[in-house]
Amino acid sequence: MQVEDKTLELLQPLNLTVTAGESLAIVGSSGSGKTTLLSILAGLDLPSSGQVYLKNQPLHQFNEEQRSQVRAQHVGFIFQQFLLINSLTALENVMLPAELANLPDAQARGEALLSQVGLADRLDHYPSQLSGGEQQRVAIARAFISKPDILFADEPTGNLDSKTGQHITDLIFDLNAKEGTTLVLVTHDAKLAARCQRQVEMDSGVLTERLDVAAQTTQHSPEAETLVPQVG
Ligand SMILES: Nc1ncnc2c1ncn2[C@@H]1O[C@H](COP(=O)(O)OP(=O)(O)O)[C@@H](O)[C@H]1O
Ligand SMILES: [Mg+2]
Repeated sequence: MQVEDKTLELLQPLNLTVTAGESLAIVGSSGSGKTTLLSILAGLDLPSSGQVYLKNQPLHQFNEEQRSQVRAQHVGFIFQQFLLINSLTALENVMLPAELANLPDAQARGEALLSQVGLADRLDHYPSQLSGGEQQRVAIARAFISKPDILFADEPTGNLDSKTGQHITDLIFDLNAKEGTTLVLVTHDAKLAARCQRQVEMDSGVLTERLDVAAQTTQHSPEAETLVPQVG
């Protein structure tokens, strides 16, 4: 059987600027390219062409080591598949980014965050001992610990019951309000999307701004945090 050598174009050329302190929802059907775009915006992946700036830093010119430094300094990421480390307890997973960044009080902050997501009695449990929804909450606590300037979250409420989902949504928007954290959220959750100031829709790799959704008017700082002029 012959396998054709074929390059998939996951994203069509696009421009996206996210302003400091803004909240942006990326919506769209499964397989449309949302996770791919989020990974590029966060500096986890590089586009095959184009430019990506995060906090004015040209990620497309950086190597993996330099990008990981930018991420450690500025970015919190909640993965769709959580990506917890199986050999570490819930608390150790949450503390890890703070320890890598040499932040003080990693343990106290980790315990407080796990308590905020309702897992105060699960600190010493390993991921395999936790349900999907509990693992997701550990991943959320881990993304918060380094007080990121920008939180990227891929379906953060995807595995949670509606009450827990609402609680996590409140936590995420508290961070936005209190710390001025920029939010870039991929979501199928209409309620979560509606709380964002802007929504963009991905459809087969084509990104369009949803102007039909009423954007709340809020003051933005003019500093651009993330810019993708050309992804092809
Ligand atoms: N590593 C990969 N190799 C090949 N195809 C991929 C890879 N990752 C994602 N895809 C494909 O790219 C498309 C977009 O994927 P993704 O960004 O995960 O979409 P979404 O998050 O919107 O569901 C899908 O068709 C998916 O199968
Ligand atoms: Mg996805």
